[in-house]
Amino acid sequence: MSGPFAAKRILLGVSGSIAAYKAVDLASKLTQAGAEVDVLMTYSATRFVTPLTFRSVTHRAVLTDLFDPDSREAIEHVAVATAADVLVVAPATAHMLAKLALGLADDPVSVTALAADVPLIVAPAMDANMWEHPAVQRNVETLESRGAMVVGPGRGRLASGLFGWGRLAETPELLGRIAQALGRNGDLAGRTIVVTSGGTAEPIDPVRVVTNRSSGKMGHALAEAARDRGAHAVLITTAALDDPPGIETVHVETAAEMLDAVLAAAGSADALVMAAAVADYRPADVHPEKIKKENADTLSVEMVRTTDILSSVGRAIVRVGFAAESTDVLGHARAKLASKDLDLIVANDITLPDAGFGADTNKVTLLDAGGAEDLPLMSKYDVAERVLDRVVPLIAARRGALR
Ligand code: CTP
Repeated sequence: MSGPFAAKRILLGVSGSIAAYKAVDLASKLTQAGAEVDVLMTYSATRFVTPLTFRSVTHRAVLTDLFDPDSREAIEHVAVATAADVLVVAPATAHMLAKLALGLADDPVSVTALAADVPLIVAPAMDANMWEHPAVQRNVETLESRGAMVVGPGRGRLASGLFGWGRLAETPELLGRIAQALGRNGDLAGRTIVVTSGGTAEPIDPVRVVTNRSSGKMGHALAEAARDRGAHAVLITTAALDDPPGIETVHVETAAEMLDAVLAAAGSADALVMAAAVADYRPADVHPEKIKKENADTLSVEMVRTTDILSSVGRAIVRVGFAAESTDVLGHARAKLASKDLDLIVANDITLPDAGFGADTNKVTLLDAGGAEDLPLMSKYDVAERVLDRVVPLIAARRGALR
């Protein structure tokens, strides 16, 4: 199995909040993604969800009592905990945050947080009034100042019936932030990678646009994979997909807006990966009012060229292009590699099944001045990993040359 969680050892600390049931989904998703998940529960957490529930999804023993002389897990737990990659406390109650901030240790979660020298992620969940209390806020600041990652809470309906801040972060947000924490010392740590995604939409009038079928999934996967290798990832996107957690996301619509956003971000970046399908042409004039059909059988819209974004970015950073083609894929891709003076181009044949627009998989060929590498069909995240495998040494060479 590949991906950010494969063979990772994750400690999941669960404290006593109604949101504890959501931690079951998190434990399940992490396990399905290849992680070894050891769940630690406070006594009050076991009042909301049984240890058996977690044991059933993780297929591993759950630690609930550190003082049980018959429990092998209790005896070995500090050694096990120290070998973990991360401790995630989700949900973290106000009481648990206070214990963690003060260094109190009287339950499996808080003892582990003190005894095991592993990165800490806390996902608070409580009533809005509790979350806003200065005592809780101070404890959160204390934890952050010690390097803990605080995820959420989100805003919405709370168990008390109140509406406000206090909901446990949703599973996709937690997964994204855990992946980010796991990859913090990856081979892109300290680097900034700008990725574009989606198809631009060029307005004809206030209600109509010229656009294309790009879903944005490939670009999102690239930004996520960069994040999971330690990069500061900037995603400039037109896509209607959820913003990926832990990634600076900028929303744009037109090629001109994308150009401005890329130029603003590129100055401090190490690489630009243009996965977006940028319109080559836009309507010359945007009608200020909706165009009425009247009685005409035809309608002509004059189109003019957009500015090429890749070619507008200086050669000081690594530039990677995409070529989505339906004929002579490699020939066209090679021509673009040369004409745009790119470091690398990712070519894909959009006529192949399970590749290209909208799919979760892709089949691409990586082309650079040295030749072509044909990759098999794989997930877009895995394609992103292979692209970044090429970007890492390119950045190192660029930085070395500038030194
Ligand atoms: N690109 C860009 N700025 C544009 C248009 C495209 O930076 N105004 C980027 C794309 O994001 C992609 C690469 O250039 O990385 C693709 O090149 P392009 O020549 O636009 O390819 P297509 O439009 O797919 O092909 P064609 O030339 O056949 O129209």
